[in-house]
Amino acid sequence: MDRLKKTVVLVGMMGAGKTAVGTALARVLSVPFCDSDEEIVKAAQRSIAEIFERDGEPFFRARESEVLARLVRGSPCVLSTGGGAFLAEANRQVIAEAGVSVWLRADLDLLWQRVRHKTTRPLLRTANPRETLRGLYEARVPAYAKADLTVDAAPELSIEEMALRVVES
Ligand code: S3P
Repeated sequence: MDRLKKTVVLVGMMGAGKTAVGTALARVLSVPFCDSDEEIVKAAQRSIAEIFERDGEPFFRARESEVLARLVRGSPCVLSTGGGAFLAEANRQVIAEAGVSVWLRADLDLLWQRVRHKTTRPLLRTANPRETLRGLYEARVPAYAKADLTVDAAPELSIEEMALRVVES
């Protein structure tokens, strides 16, 4: 990986470890860490769940695109994105212009283990969240596969080891 020149943009499903690995990766690369969801929450002054509920998903996606463009075009950092951020062609374009995208690929079982007890993700508030997760996963893999690099999230590796995997990719 060509460090420091470009923003490293972590993409992939919820539960893949983008925030945890991104935080460790930023430390390794000695650059700031930022998180698109966090920026959206900060600006809106309410949680992602509340934004989805009150303003709707299209509103959230519009804020997500704005935040992505601003962060990717700013000074180099490690940027963790929400699981839907890499789906829109326009977002992928913005990321390609100024960043290097890394898909943190994790299998469905691992993702489910990590998200099953968390009730904060609006897209998984369904009658059968396991099936919802599967549907999202299958629909999204083709988009994630367009990332510049793919790193497999191995459950036996620590967060720091995962960050090193990204550096070495
Ligand atoms: C979403 C993932 C979430 C958050 C929002 C939508 C998605 O981020 O952006 O709930 O579409 O997969 P994480 O991937 O960090 O959970």
